[in-house]
Formats: sequence, C-alpha cells, structure tokens
Amino acid sequence: MDKPIVYVTRTLPEEQLSPLKEAADIEMWEKEDEPCPRDVLLEKAKTADGLLTMLSDRIDEELLKEALHLKVVANLAVGYDNIDVEAANKHRVICCNTPDVLTESTADLTFALLMAAARRIIEASDWIKQGRWTGWGPYFLAGADIHHKTIGIVGMGSIGRAVARRAKGFSMNVLYHNRRQNSEAEEELGAVWVSFDELLEQSDFVVCLTPLTKETKHMFNRSAFKKMKHTAFFINVSRGQVVDEGDLYDALVEKEIAGAGLDVFAEEPISKKHPLANLPQVTALPHIGSASKETREAMMRLCAENIALVLGEKQPKTEI
Ligand code: DGY
Repeated sequence: MDKPIVYVTRTLPEEQLSPLKEAADIEMWEKEDEPCPRDVLLEKAKTADGLLTMLSDRIDEELLKEALHLKVVANLAVGYDNIDVEAANKHRVICCNTPDVLTESTADLTFALLMAAARRIIEASDWIKQGRWTGWGPYFLAGADIHHKTIGIVGMGSIGRAVARRAKGFSMNVLYHNRRQNSEAEEELGAVWVSFDELLEQSDFVVCLTPLTKETKHMFNRSAFKKMKHTAFFINVSRGQVVDEGDLYDALVEKEIAGAGLDVFAEEPISKKHPLANLPQVTALPHIGSASKETREAMMRLCAENIALVLGEKQPKTEI
C-alpha cells in the first residue's frame, strides 16, 4: 500500500522529521528561508495527506476545498492566525500548533527586546560599529530603568507567565489584562488583573502577547497609545496586526510614548524603508520570538509527531 504524502513548506533537516519517516513519504519545498509560493502550496495540497506549514502559509477555504486527501495541518508556530480553523473543521482537517516547547525561548526574547528598547542597546552598539564613540557624557545614550518599574502584560498565557517570572527577577510590579483572570499568574507571581485602560495608564512597559483574532486586530490604536504614559515603552512579540502601525508611528513621533520594541509587523518581511524601523526610538527585530536552534528543532519534531499521530489515527499532542 502507498504511504501517505506529507508536504513540508520549507527545507527542514531530515533528522528532525524522523517521527514521520516510517509513516509517510515526505516532500519539501526546496528553500529554507524563502516561502513556498502560493501556487505550489495549492498544487501540493491537492495530493497531500498532511502539511507541515509555516506561519507565512495561508491555509484557507481556497486550499482546503481542493485538498481532498488532507487529514492534518501542523503549523510550526504557536500562533495560527494563518489558518482558517473553522474551514478546516468543516473539511475534517485536524490542525496542530507548537505551544509549550517555545514558551521559555519566546519569553527570553520578549524580555531581551524590552531591555534592548529601554536601555538603547542596539543603538549603543551601533555607535561603536559606526565609529561615533568619541567621549562620555552624563546623558550619553541614557535610557530608562527596568527594575522596580511596572510591566503590563496583555495576553497572560504561558508565555505571558514566563515573561512575568523574568520581570519578578527585576523586582517589577506585574499587571496583566486577559479576557479571563489567570489564577496561576496571580498566585505564583502576584500578577494583578486590571482593565485594558488601567493597564495602559499604569504600565511603564506594555507588552503585547495576545493572539491575533477578529477581536484583537488593531486593539493597539491611537486611543490606546494616548492612554499610555509619555515615558512608557510598547513591546510587541505577538502579531503585527494587533497594532495599527500608522497610529503607533504617530504616537512615537509625537512623543506620546517613549519607544517601542517590535518583533512582528503587519506585513512581513518589512524592508529597511519601513517607517517604524527608521525611528531611533524603535528596536525592530525580524520575527525571531522562538528562534533558538534548540526550540526551533523541538517545534519541528512536535509537528512531525503530530502529523504521524493523526496519520496513524491517533490523537495529536497539540491539536488547536
Ligand atoms: C509563533 O510561534 O507564533 C511565533 O510568532 C514564532 O516566533
């Protein structure tokens, strides 16, 4: 009997896909750092039993209605706003993501970005690289303190809690806003639930970790930035479309807020001409939240395991 076919939308190391080796014939898009073109994905999906996708691949009705053999989509990300889960349910396609394995690495990056933005670390490093360091002055590259300040986490899931644990190590006061209160964060970390407006008004660092949904799209808009302190920083490690980027740009230029650390953008990748990336008070990163080698490989293995489980008619480990 023919083995099921799994299409992987990037070149991944074969050893990380070993859970799938026996279970399926694996085909991969031949590039590691370039997305699989839409027309190739649509064509491959027509014959695939499983897809291992990246967050840049759109899995929607157009693809699903022609994917007559498809049983499982495993997305190499915890966020899955690229997948129309309702349409997948309708077509009886099981969708999986990669929670938990990336929690600590993403929290590390979130805190690193917060620190880089507050203490102007990238800008300071550039002073040396550009040969501009000619002396010392009392306000030379002076940034903002982090310790003992208030961090406000919007989206207190497992990554939010891991960020809050790091914040506690810096003696920070932790506020959070979620639709539901998170008793673990409250009991373990003394985090305090506040309304969205209270969080904006009281936080020195507003950290966005909320998933992108219809409800959260553009939740950080002009009216939200106006409520923040003039000395506050906005840090986004969730999805770019949670922010109205034009409004963020205006808030920064008009000094309604002090700065921003951005790992994500509305349309990725951005070019060096992107207005936000050109502001000195913005630290911009190319969506590297979970990008450590160990974590990315754990994510690959989890995707492969989930696909193998579904193809073997078993329950996957992390179904969406
Ligand atoms: C995710 O997994 O959703 C992250 O954005 C990847 O870095």
